[in-house]
Amino acid sequence: MAQGTPQVNGFDTVLVLDYGAQYGQLIARRVRECRVYSELIPHDASIERIKGFKPKGIILSGGPMSVYVDDAPKVNPEIFALGVPVLGICYGAQGIALELGGTVARTGLSEFGKTTLSVIKPGLILESMRPEEQCWMSHRDSITEPPPGFEVLAASSGAPVAAMEDRERGFYAVQFHPEVVHTPKGMDVLRSFLYKACGCAPSFTPASIIEEAIKKIREQVGDSKAILGLSGGVDSSVAALLMYRAIGDRLTCVFVDQGMMRMREADRVVETFSGTFGIPLVSVDASDRFLDKLKGVTEPERKRKIIGEEFIRCFEEEARKLIDARFLVQGTLYSDVIESGTRQAAKIKSHHNVGGLPEKMDFELVEPLRWLFKDEVRAVGEELGLPEHIVWRQPFPGPGLAIRIIGEIDRERVDVLQRADAIVQEEIRKAGLYRELWQCFAILPVIRSVGVQGDERTYGYPIAIRAVTSDDAMTADWAHLPYDLLETLSSRIINEVPEVNRVVYDISSKPPSTIEWE
Ligand code: XMP
Repeated sequence: MAQGTPQVNGFDTVLVLDYGAQYGQLIARRVRECRVYSELIPHDASIERIKGFKPKGIILSGGPMSVYVDDAPKVNPEIFALGVPVLGICYGAQGIALELGGTVARTGLSEFGKTTLSVIKPGLILESMRPEEQCWMSHRDSITEPPPGFEVLAASSGAPVAAMEDRERGFYAVQFHPEVVHTPKGMDVLRSFLYKACGCAPSFTPASIIEEAIKKIREQVGDSKAILGLSGGVDSSVAALLMYRAIGDRLTCVFVDQGMMRMREADRVVETFSGTFGIPLVSVDASDRFLDKLKGVTEPERKRKIIGEEFIRCFEEEARKLIDARFLVQGTLYSDVIESGTRQAAKIKSHHNVGGLPEKMDFELVEPLRWLFKDEVRAVGEELGLPEHIVWRQPFPGPGLAIRIIGEIDRERVDVLQRADAIVQEEIRKAGLYRELWQCFAILPVIRSVGVQGDERTYGYPIAIRAVTSDDAMTADWAHLPYDLLETLSSRIINEVPEVNRVVYDISSKPPSTIEWE
């Protein structure tokens, strides 16, 4: 399915047309937080494509350009003939002004950051606002004259028309950004537009998402069978539960234990899915196989390649046994769909994802999470009764502990790292910090240093602790963990893991470091 192809479902839908905004995705997320389904599509999407979504409203996002530069994206005038309300934000607001006969000019008064909004008349979209409100602006050009038929609702010192509306035709525009938290009444603006202008119902809830997802899966899969690569992470777990609800025992999950999961995690995956939920699960203990292949390997990219390939081989072997399965389930998220067309980052590491599509396999894909953001997947997981430790599990790399043992991997080292890491997990949870942190874990650099314990010389491993905060893993800060907690971690690890005689804390941010050490 190409990016932006209508996912058409039973929800009232409001489209966000992306003019290159930093906050395009955020607008769609905010609309969804108002319980109205939203998708982000390119600003130059054809009108037929837009109609295909059957939108109840359209939002035009901000963008980095001036409306006056030569190749500035234009607002497609056909949008105004669709008969649905339109809300322009920042660049989108200026686009509406220009297209409908207003003026946009450079006033010489740019506004960036927190700005005071003077509300002249609340109208429909500013109805919750008092005469003075804080908002967040980011613009150089301003609307100086509204188009015919529009009423000016608000101004700021740099924007003579900071909000305007033509209620009769259903066109609304705000120069400020209602989607960011620095506009405290921003969500009210969106709610007014969605509920009052567009007449949307706030029906995009976890329960109705589940119902809709099940309906779509049944439509796609019919009476056929499907297999799913289960990793124990939240995405593949939620996908498994949705699939199971939709097609029951015609789903088989395949869990490949490469022997490099966290302590007891492999057992817990089997217990949860096979035991608690009764989902047909093939569990493959492939730890010997993986460790054999990794013997003597220290180079990080080689490790990743070996593990990625071996994983696919194991998965394929199991999949071949399920000869009558026609569908392969993947936990692709909506953010992957949005980003897949645009991401052009240099390759830093070869990521391997459990459930990664085996090449040359004769399956059709089912992607039940393709229209959901991560927080929505979590909410659905909670609604489905998935245990907390899975719903809120921090990201865990496909190659697992293999890329946290810096040097050659063997069973003993995996075991040392598992025990040290279990202490990190336990103490961070006890301190109530688990959900706040993007990730926290232990690393075992395969070097030794001298220590002294009980008057005896020791020559043991160090353990490094990594704890980071992040929004999306693209950048990260090292977490300022309390000293007391670091002290507890250090003494517990050294006392309880005899192979370790030193604990260090990683205080590097990303960039220039990465989150994982390999
Ligand atoms: P880095 O180390 O590049 O990691 O800062 C960014 C995020 O990606 C996770 N990660 C992976 N996830 N397969 C995955 O599914 C992988 O091969 C992989 N490698 C790194 C990492 O844990 C962090 O959240």
